[in-house]
Amino acid sequence: MSHPDPDAATAPTGLPLPAEWRASGVLDVRALDLDWADVGLPPATLIAYDVEAFGVSAFARHGIDMPGSIERSVKKRQAEFFMGRLAAGYAPHTLSAPPVGAALAAKGASDPPTRMKQIPIGPSRQPVWPAGTVGSITHAGRYAAAVATSAANITGIGIDIECRIGPETRQSVEDTVLNPAEKALLHALSGDLPYEMLLTIAFSAKESFFKGSFATVGTYFNFDAVDIKALDIPGGTLQIVLNRSLAAGLPEGKALTLRTQCIDADTVLTSFVW
Ligand SMILES: CC(C)(COP(=O)(O)OP(=O)(O)OC[C@H]1O[C@@H](n2cnc3c(N)ncnc32)[C@H](O)[C@@H]1OP(=O)(O)O)[C@@H](O)C(=O)NCCC(=O)NCCS
Repeated sequence: MSHPDPDAATAPTGLPLPAEWRASGVLDVRALDLDWADVGLPPATLIAYDVEAFGVSAFARHGIDMPGSIERSVKKRQAEFFMGRLAAGYAPHTLSAPPVGAALAAKGASDPPTRMKQIPIGPSRQPVWPAGTVGSITHAGRYAAAVATSAANITGIGIDIECRIGPETRQSVEDTVLNPAEKALLHALSGDLPYEMLLTIAFSAKESFFKGSFATVGTYFNFDAVDIKALDIPGGTLQIVLNRSLAAGLPEGKALTLRTQCIDADTVLTSFVW
């Protein structure tokens, strides 16, 4: 388990970063074990990047489509969208194969076998994965991550990275995300990790659950749909229970497990697989 030792959470790939990736602002790429080996989930791809070193030319360099909405966005949004798609398109072990840029693709060169093609934006902002694939994308701070696997293995997956919630937003996040029992649970645990980090994990977990269940539920639902019943920091797990029926496979009272790990001392990643 990875709390509270951030260095244990990620293992460097040991592979050299291709020059094209550095030119796009990528600082580091790692395989991140999300600890769902029991369902055969492959590691996520975690990218650390420098938004200042990013430019929109990265889209063409890597053969990633830039939707109109992203073209009109600020640089930070362009960078996070790009990095999420880049992470989704490559498993870290394929990095030794040079990325296929737009020019090469136009000449008909074939992509590396694990390269995901374009991942459009769905009507509810969700990534539209190729048929037979389920996956999830997240970004926060200087990180972006993605994971994808065959839909034959699991129903859904959601991952979410969050940076430590600061004192200026703590109250509003608490009020939006937690009920009184959940607040009491986190306060009782705050010897294990600072309260703000526990709050960050709780928030992230509910976002992961939302992302992982959205394709099944088909509509937005609020944070009170789910109760966090237990948080095991050393074990890296959260237990949640559904407060109401969200879909046929997600009835009221259903108990589910999520996982949590540190990316660094101020950044957490949670994951939900079912
Ligand atoms: C959609 C949402 C969960 C995204 O979380 P976030 O912390 O803001 O942002 P992240 O960077 O971690 O994730 C963003 C990515 O999530 C993915 N995403 C967005 N909407 C999604 C949806 N409806 N379903 C699945 N994935 C979605 C996208 O890939 C997006 O990145 P992109 O726009 O670059 O493609 C959040 O904005 C939201 O709307 N939350 C309210 C709903 C909710 O969480 N309810 C609580 C249920 S208990």
